[in-house]
Amino acid sequence: MEDKTIKGTYIQPNSQSVIESDDPVLEILGPTSLKGEVTISGAKNSALAIMAGTLLCSDECRIRNVPSLVDVGRMKQILASLGVKITEDKDILDINAKEIGQTQAPYDLVSQLRASFFVIGPVLARLGVARVPLPGGCAIGARPVDLHVRGLQAMGAEVHIEHGIVHACVKGSRSRLKGAKIYLDYPSVGATETIMMAATLAEGETIIENAAQEPEVEDLANFCRSMGAKIRGAGTNTIIVSGVERLHSTDYPIIPDRIEAGTFLVAGAITQSPISLYPVIPEHLTPVIAKLEEIGCQVILEESKRVRIVPGALRATDIETLPYPGFPTDMQAQFMALLTLSEGNSMISETVFENRLRHVAELQRMGADIKVKGNVAVVKGVPFLSGAPVMATDLRASAALVLAGLAAQGKTVVQGLHHLDRGYENIEDKLRQLGAKLQRV
Ligand code: UD1
Repeated sequence: MEDKTIKGTYIQPNSQSVIESDDPVLEILGPTSLKGEVTISGAKNSALAIMAGTLLCSDECRIRNVPSLVDVGRMKQILASLGVKITEDKDILDINAKEIGQTQAPYDLVSQLRASFFVIGPVLARLGVARVPLPGGCAIGARPVDLHVRGLQAMGAEVHIEHGIVHACVKGSRSRLKGAKIYLDYPSVGATETIMMAATLAEGETIIENAAQEPEVEDLANFCRSMGAKIRGAGTNTIIVSGVERLHSTDYPIIPDRIEAGTFLVAGAITQSPISLYPVIPEHLTPVIAKLEEIGCQVILEESKRVRIVPGALRATDIETLPYPGFPTDMQAQFMALLTLSEGNSMISETVFENRLRHVAELQRMGADIKVKGNVAVVKGVPFLSGAPVMATDLRASAALVLAGLAAQGKTVVQGLHHLDRGYENIEDKLRQLGAKLQRV
């Protein structure tokens, strides 16, 4: 039976059920070959943290290379709800947090975006009080905020949770956080960022041990330093922050998105197409490039910020997700799509999040041979995938399904595009410019 998609009413083949939805779907015709060069946008995870970081400064901050994404739009709304003034021109945001009229972030926004919890550190550091609802975001595990809270407590904040809202305040006449030595049980990206931001305006020195080393943490630190913050060691596992009284205005460009770049490298590999990517910071892609080479592809450095993937015969490999510089959990789903078509058995262990293998069932619908036990997936390469109706379950899973759709035979229809739009700027246009056949209906 033919697939039929009529204005968002999706009729599943071989099924009695009709899924009524106003949500658009992405139809992809495969298999396809890609060619040319793709432009990589600014990093989503840097942009979200840096936008929160502007709350530390009472002068205007200019951020450049900000990707146009649903998540960035939500963060803008959160800042606006706190009384911050934002103007934008293409990929430039001017953020003026001179007046923070509100210390409570709204639940309906925070529940949609986990990164919005990051405003707690800067607001607390600036005003001595902050109230932020417990966050939402991707459905990829429990994702608590205990490490953020414990860090702020170590710096002298009183924190309690009431009716789902985290209330934090600094007692004392000067309402200033105090520097502290903080060891993180786990190198959480968000907790490192929360504590680092709060420490920039604290009294004295803060040392964060077992800090996250992700490039986005370093980008946030560089942004804070461009405002006059005293931070050393960002990008290593020990970050030292000497608090200052105030920060000043800045003009700061965000780094290219290594996860978007990794996704396009996999697009080249899975469609067996040599494509170029620009701009990228190749060192940020080290674990991704190493795995692509094990799988049989080459990644050539054409210029300092331009790389080219040269695909080869795909073979199995094992992957374990880890904090940076280990293999990123945000690339796990895309590599699983690639390994479904790689000869041999691959083992993928997801160690960062406990519920991040939900794309397996969707890839199986396309003919993938995958078995899951706990947080481990064993992928047996198959000669081809078949287009099918599939449902995106989280942001990176949605990218994996698009990649699988590019390589699969026939039509793939991806539902749940709100996930994709959270984190990929103009992905359809970018893929279409490379020659992919896809449309949103
Ligand atoms: C960030 C990224 C996300 C990426 C993740 C891991 C942003 C906006 N998002 O998310 O894309 O997948 O890093 O690289 O930057 N944890 C706790 N307690 C805490 C905080 C975290 O137990 O207080 C746990 C989480 O449940 C998870 C692990 O630590 O199992 C890693 O989370 P974390 O590094 O904090 O990720 P996020 O900052 O949420």
